[in-house]
Order: sequence, then C-alpha cells, then structure tokens
Amino acid sequence: MTQSYNAPKGTADLLGASARGWDFLQEVAREVFSRYGYESIYTPIFEQTEVFTRGIGEATDVVGKEMYTFEDRGGRSITLRPENTAGVVRAAIQARLTDNGAQAKLYYAGPQFRYERPQKGRQRQFYQVGAEALGQTSPFADAEMILMLWEYFTLLGLSKRSMRLLVNSMGDDACRPAYRDSVATFIREHSVELCDDCARRADTNPLRAFDCKKPECHAVMDSAPRINEVLCEACKQHNDTVLRTLDAAGLKYEIDPKLVRGLDYYTRTVFEVQVDHGLGSQNAIGGGGRYDGLFQDLGGKEAPSIGFAVGAERILLALEAEEVDILNRDDLVIYVAAAADEQREAAFAMTMELRRRGLTAVSDLQDRSLKSQFKQADKAGARYVLIIGEEEQKRGGVTIRDMESKEERFATPGSIVKMLVK
Ligand code: HAM
Repeated sequence: MTQSYNAPKGTADLLGASARGWDFLQEVAREVFSRYGYESIYTPIFEQTEVFTRGIGEATDVVGKEMYTFEDRGGRSITLRPENTAGVVRAAIQARLTDNGAQAKLYYAGPQFRYERPQKGRQRQFYQVGAEALGQTSPFADAEMILMLWEYFTLLGLSKRSMRLLVNSMGDDACRPAYRDSVATFIREHSVELCDDCARRADTNPLRAFDCKKPECHAVMDSAPRINEVLCEACKQHNDTVLRTLDAAGLKYEIDPKLVRGLDYYTRTVFEVQVDHGLGSQNAIGGGGRYDGLFQDLGGKEAPSIGFAVGAERILLALEAEEVDILNRDDLVIYVAAAADEQREAAFAMTMELRRRGLTAVSDLQDRSLKSQFKQADKAGARYVLIIGEEEQKRGGVTIRDMESKEERFATPGSIVKMLVK
C-alpha cells in the first residue's frame, strides 16, 4: 500500500464547519470594516527575513524562536510571515501610501506562521483577520480602532459579558527608555526568583518579562515598576483622550499596566481582548496597538499608525463555547430531483435556471434513485425539493415539496421563483 499523509504538526485543514467559520469571520470583517472606510490588502505570505527581524524586533520570542526562515534557491533569506503588520507597512512604504501625510485604512485576512508548541487555540499555521490605520496620529484613531474591534466581536456573536478588554500605554521614545532601565534593574534585583529566560531579559528585552506565563515570574513582576506612573506628559495626554473617548462611547475596559504585548514595535496605546471560557491559557482572541516608529524601522518616512489582529481559531472556539450557531444562516437551499432517467436533463436545466435567478440549487449528478435523491436533499439541508416526473413534464411544470410541512403542490416554471422566495 502507498504511504498516506497527514497535515503537518500544528496545522489543520479548514473543511466543513471550520471552513464555514473562517468564511463567516471574513464576511463579517468586510461588512464591519468597510463601514469604517477600510479597504482590503493582500501581501505575500513570505517576505525578506529582515522585514520581520527589524519590524518585530530581534529580542522577541516571535523573531528569536518562532519564525519559519529558510534560504530560497537564489540564496535569499526568506521568512513565512508570523504576522501581517510588518508586511502591510513594507507594502505601504513601497507603494508610497502615506507620503506627504496621506492616510490609508487597510484590512486583511489570511494565514500566519509561528513555530510554537501546538495546543488548543495555538497552531503553527493559524489564521488572522486584521486592520491597520496608517498615518494616524490622533488618539481618536486609537479609540476608533478599539471600538471597531469590539463591534466586530459582538457582531460575530460573542457576548459582551464573556469578553474583557485590556488597555495600557507603552510610552514612547521620550519616556520608555528610562522605564525599560528601571524594569531591567528590578529584574536584576529579583533574578533568583525569576526563571532563567526572564533573568536574562534584563539585558535583552526587560519588558518581555511581563509576558512570561510562569506563575513564579508572574507573581514577581506584579511588584515591578508600572509604566502608567512614569508616562511623559505627551503620552499621558494621548492616553487620557483615548480612555475618555472609550468612556464616552460607553465601552468598558480594564487598565492593565502589565499589558506589554509580544512585539517590539508598539508605542503608546496597546490593547487586547480576552475571553473567560473555552480557551484555557490561550485566551487572547485579538490584540493590537499603536506603532509610531515602524515605518522608519523599515526604511520609510515617519507615519504613526495603529492596528489590531484577531485569531480565527480562538474566536471559533470561543463561539463554540458560547454555543453560538454561526452556521444556521437560513440559506434557502432547493434540491431538484428527477423521478427517472428520462427527466435528468430537465432536472439539470431547471437547476441551472434557478441558479441564474439567484437561488441556491443543487441536484444529483450521479444517476441516483429518487429515494436516495431525497436523502441527499436532506443532507444538503434543502427546504424545498422540486420533483420532475413524467406527469410534471407532460403538464410543463414541477411538484414542489416543502420538506418541513411535507406539503406538495404543482407549479409552472413561471411561478416557481415567486413561490419559493415567498
Ligand atoms: P498578536 O497578539 O501576536 O498580534 O496576534 C493577534 C492574535 O492572533 C492573538 O490575539 C491570537 O488570537 C492570534 N494568534 C497569535 N498566535 C497564534 C497561534 N500560534 N495560534 C493561534 N492564534 C494565534 C499581532 O499579530 C499583531 N500583528 C497585531 C497588530 C496589528 N498590532 C498592530 N496591528
């Protein structure tokens, strides 16, 4: 027997319910984000490695441990995108979208790749939907971004009660360096109580110690210096306006001074949405923040920006835990059945005609008996079956069977669509 193959570790085929779920996330994204003035963007799934090392930061876990990096046949270092923000910014610089103070609002949906230890809600190939507002300095842009994310989650069907919105400010070039140093000093003072990774972080990337999942580190970092106590005046004002705007919009949030997020490009506002059930430790269903220096890090001109991305697998798990039935979209499916071989061509033609008129119609293409066509109709969730038999053909019409009420009635071709749509 020939060897058969499974999808690689940490990846999954999207089919059946998960494929419909991913479609649903993209449909709702288009609906919500376009109302806010966003247009779609598709960047390559791989980029020159430096786009990520410079963009996300050498000392992050994503760059240091999780990237799929390889040399292509031309000897270039290539990396599968671990996230989409760096690629969007690279594309915006290349297309000069933000030159002369211009703005762009872009959204995307697609697979991302991180070599992580797979578990529930954590994959090596996972799917994100994200949005980026480029060239936006105003704190209202931050508030709008957070409100759009919240609207997206609620429209998907997640209940407000099940979600927690965390916000923080990471400061900027004026106040963060001193803050970083004070966290580094704190880590050195407590190095024996921290895990080896965190102890080392004093020299590489002290703020990452806030992200460590180990309980002992968590407890120690609880008493580390807090960024909100040392923000410079400009960052403080920016942050105050963001929070005031969220208050005015009636959105509830928690200020979490330990929220630093895992990527180095953030400045000022960061935020994350977590859910309480269904996900265990992988409870962040989406997050983002402002990145005022990323354009320059990638060789472009200054263009302060803000964005977020959400994780499809985690959202679908959260919807499942809340028993939200996203698949029950009451699409009207019509099945066209041929009573015998003589009516197969007529059934085929009728199916095509219904589709031309904008209805969802399916029929058998495998010469099945009438009985198994009915079974198929059931499986397809058909509300109506149109039966074409000898008698119907003679009378120039079809019998419509309502699969719920089991009623049957005769209809002429002209009246079918009207009758079904009613
Ligand atoms: P991130 O927090 O790294 O941010 O990822 C965003 C979301 O992607 C997470 O909240 C989570 O739901 C999902 N996610 C991340 N890693 C995995 C994984 N291994 N398996 C399943 N889901 C995962 C970013 O990616 C930033 N680019 C967000 C952003 C956009 N910031 C500004 N603009």
